[in-house]
Amino acid sequence: MTTNELVREDPAYQQLFQITNETARRGGVVIEDIYSGLARLRDQGPLLKGSIHDFLGEGLPPHLFTHSRPHFAALDFETNSSVVNNDDIFSSRTYDEYFPNQALGRTIINMGGLEHRRIRGAVQALFTMLYARDWWKPRWVEEIVDVLLSDFERKGRADLNQQLCARLPMHTITRGLGLDAEEALAFRVNLMATLSNLVTDDERAAAAQVVRQTMLNAVEIRRREPRDDILSALTGASFTDDDGSVYQLDDEEILSFCRLLMAAGGGTTWRQLGITLHALLTDPANWAAVRDDRSLVDRAINESTRWNTTAPLFYRIAERDVRLSGVDIPAGARIEACFAAANRDPTRWDDPDTFRLDRPFQRHLAFGGGPHTCIGRFVAQSEMSVAINALADRVPDLRLDPDAPAPIITGGLEQRGVDHMRVVF
Ligand code: HEM
Repeated sequence: MTTNELVREDPAYQQLFQITNETARRGGVVIEDIYSGLARLRDQGPLLKGSIHDFLGEGLPPHLFTHSRPHFAALDFETNSSVVNNDDIFSSRTYDEYFPNQALGRTIINMGGLEHRRIRGAVQALFTMLYARDWWKPRWVEEIVDVLLSDFERKGRADLNQQLCARLPMHTITRGLGLDAEEALAFRVNLMATLSNLVTDDERAAAAQVVRQTMLNAVEIRRREPRDDILSALTGASFTDDDGSVYQLDDEEILSFCRLLMAAGGGTTWRQLGITLHALLTDPANWAAVRDDRSLVDRAINESTRWNTTAPLFYRIAERDVRLSGVDIPAGARIEACFAAANRDPTRWDDPDTFRLDRPFQRHLAFGGGPHTCIGRFVAQSEMSVAINALADRVPDLRLDPDAPAPIITGGLEQRGVDHMRVVF
C-alpha cells in the first residue's frame, strides 16, 4: 500500500469532506438542529401529509426529484418500520426520480423483488459480519488506520475529520472494490462532481466520463484475470433463471453498482465516525469510559447511529392506495421515511435525545430495514471500531483542542456530520 497516498495533503480533501460543502452540492440547506423540529412534527402524528423539507422551513429542494408527487412524512418507529418492511407496497423505484441517483445509474437501491435480490446477492457474501471481520478488517481497515494515526500521533494535535474520518472509508472502499490506491481521491472528486448540483452539465458529463473509463478499465482486467475483490465478484457472478437460462451482469450493471458502493461507502462512514467521536469527546467522561472499557466501543457506535444518524431521510413510492398509521395514502404518493425521527421515538426510547452509553440495545433504523437494509453496515461498524480502538490505544488522553472552535453536528436533511474535529493529545 502506498503510505504517501493516504496521508498526502491535498485541498481536495477539504473540498470533499466538509458537511457544509456536501450539503450545498446536494442543493440542500444547512439546518443546525433538525431534532426539535422533528419532535414537534412527530407529536402531531406518526404520518403527516406534506414534506419534512417544507415542514422544517427548508423547502423541498427543487432539483431533488425529477417528478413532483404528493408527499407523506413517516415520523415514528412503527410507521417507518412498516414502510421499509413492505417493499411491495412502498417501493424504492422513487429513486428513479431522485436527482442524485441519476448519475449512479440503475442500482440495487432503485430495484425491488427478484431483480434486487439477484443483483444484491452478487456481492452480499463480501459484506457479512464475518467478512467484515476476516476480510475487510485485516486486509485494509487496520492497515489504513495504522498509517493515518502514525502520521499524526507524534504531532500532539490533529483534525480528526480531515486526517482520519474522511480518509479511512474512502480508501477502504476503493481498495475493497479493487481500484488502485492512487486513484482513490481523483476518482471521488469526479464521482462527487457527477452528483453535484453546483457544476455545469458539461463539467458533470466530463466527470462521468472519467469515472466510467476508470471502472471500465478495471472491469476489463477482472474479466481476463479475476482477483480477490468486489469487482471480480461482480464480473464472476452468474444467476440461473427459472427457465434454466444463465444470466451474468453486463458492464452497465456492474458500473452502476460500483458507483453506488463508492458513493455510499466513502461518505456515510466518514460522517458517522465524526458524529461518534463528537459524542465521545464533547463529554470527556464518555471518552474515558470507552477508553477504559473497550466493550463499550460497539455500544458507542450503535448509540451514535441511533442518536444522530448521518442519513436522516430516505424515500419510497406507494404502489397502491393504502392506509398506514390511520392515514390514507393514494397510489403514487412519495413517502419520506425519516429514520432520524424514528430513532428518537419516545415511545421506544427513554430520554431519546441523549447519547447514552448505558442504553439497553433496541433495534433502530439508522441502517434502514427490510430488503434494502444497508449492505455495508458491518464494514462501516468495523471501520469505526478499529479507528476508535486505535485512538484509545495510541492517544489515550485524546481531547478536543480548547483553542479551536468546538465541533458541531450540522448539515441538511439528507446528510449530517461535523466539518472539523480539532483535537490535542
Ligand atoms: C454509518 C454508515 C452508514 C449508514 C448510516 C448507512 C445507511 C444506509 C441506509 C439507511 C440504507 C437504506 C436506504 C433505503 O432504505 O432507502 C443504506 C443502503 C445502502 N448502503 Fe449504507 N450506510 C452506511 C454505510 C455504508 C457502507 C460503508 C456501504 C458500502 C461499503 C454502504 C452501501 C449501501 C448500499 C449499497 C445500500 C443499498 C442497499 C439496497 O438497496 O439493497 N453503506 N445505507
